[in-house]
Amino acid sequence: MAQKTAKKKPLGTNEQKPKRARTTRKAALPPAVIAFAHLKGGVGKTTAAINVATCLARMGHKTLLLDMDPQSSASEVFLSTTQTEKNLYHVLYDEKPLSAVIQPIGDNLDLAPASIDMAMLENRLRERVDGYHMLQIALENHPYQFVVIDTPPSIGVLTSNALIASTHLVIPVQASYFALKGIENMMQTYHTVRQRANPSLNLLGVLITMIDDRLSFARDIKADVTDIFGDKVFRTVIHRTVRLEESPAYRKNIFEHAPRSRGSEEFAQLTQEILDRCRNSSPKHS
Ligand SMILES: Nc1ncnc2c1ncn2[C@@H]1O[C@H](COP(=O)(O)OP(=O)(O)O)[C@@H](O)[C@H]1O
Ligand SMILES: [Mg+2]
Repeated sequence: MAQKTAKKKPLGTNEQKPKRARTTRKAALPPAVIAFAHLKGGVGKTTAAINVATCLARMGHKTLLLDMDPQSSASEVFLSTTQTEKNLYHVLYDEKPLSAVIQPIGDNLDLAPASIDMAMLENRLRERVDGYHMLQIALENHPYQFVVIDTPPSIGVLTSNALIASTHLVIPVQASYFALKGIENMMQTYHTVRQRANPSLNLLGVLITMIDDRLSFARDIKADVTDIFGDKVFRTVIHRTVRLEESPAYRKNIFEHAPRSRGSEEFAQLTQEILDRCRNSSPKHS
């Protein structure tokens, strides 16, 4: 009798929530290596990597932000160039252990910085038989719950190293007129990496960034991206905001720069969505 009454309750009422939610929250979370990648520049990769890594750390997860872009934009938000003398070049080329270059940049948050010297690795690593696997080797037995990788805007050896070392991929797509150009290439790259080098790589989601609700084509782009990627598109979109644009200039993440802004709210939501998707997906499934 009591069961019948419960069944009639509409979805979302208190009675249906607790058991499921608790089971999901308790599930052990395997370590995840999440690459933010897109072959185009200026789509919001670095902004997303910095703020998602920061948010994961603030939630209590031991997190490493790993900067694979020789432009070093993510590293420069946290460290000056003199502080990045030891950087991933030495790990990827000289085979120094990752621990030799890592620096603490916050509670639960470490950084493996980049340097412009890493641009030389595009040629130098290509000549080595294990050149595409150097990051994967360096990350063996890492002690982090999350490694968040920022990547360069090209499909060279550095991006390949990132994709081969990752369990998950997030593709940021800028809500602009040219948004869908380039995403085909990125998807091709994803499938090639899965087929040839890293079958465990899992497309965690496609993230729409820098959306401007005042522009009607922004809605069309969201619809187009959703047509192609369906539920792979994150529910959270990142709007174009002044606060997000200016935060790197202040060398701050959005949670420090503007804790009550739309940007910080959206990145907190996105991080929760990423956590949920990591819990529900295993690296074995696409
Ligand atoms: N949501 C946003 N609103 C406003 N400006 C943004 C937003 N996301 C990124 N930007 C700015 O756009 C530029 C490109 O973003 P970035 O994250 O560096 O892209 P990528 O790493 O793909 O090249 C940067 O100047 C950044 O500060
Ligand atoms: Mg970048």
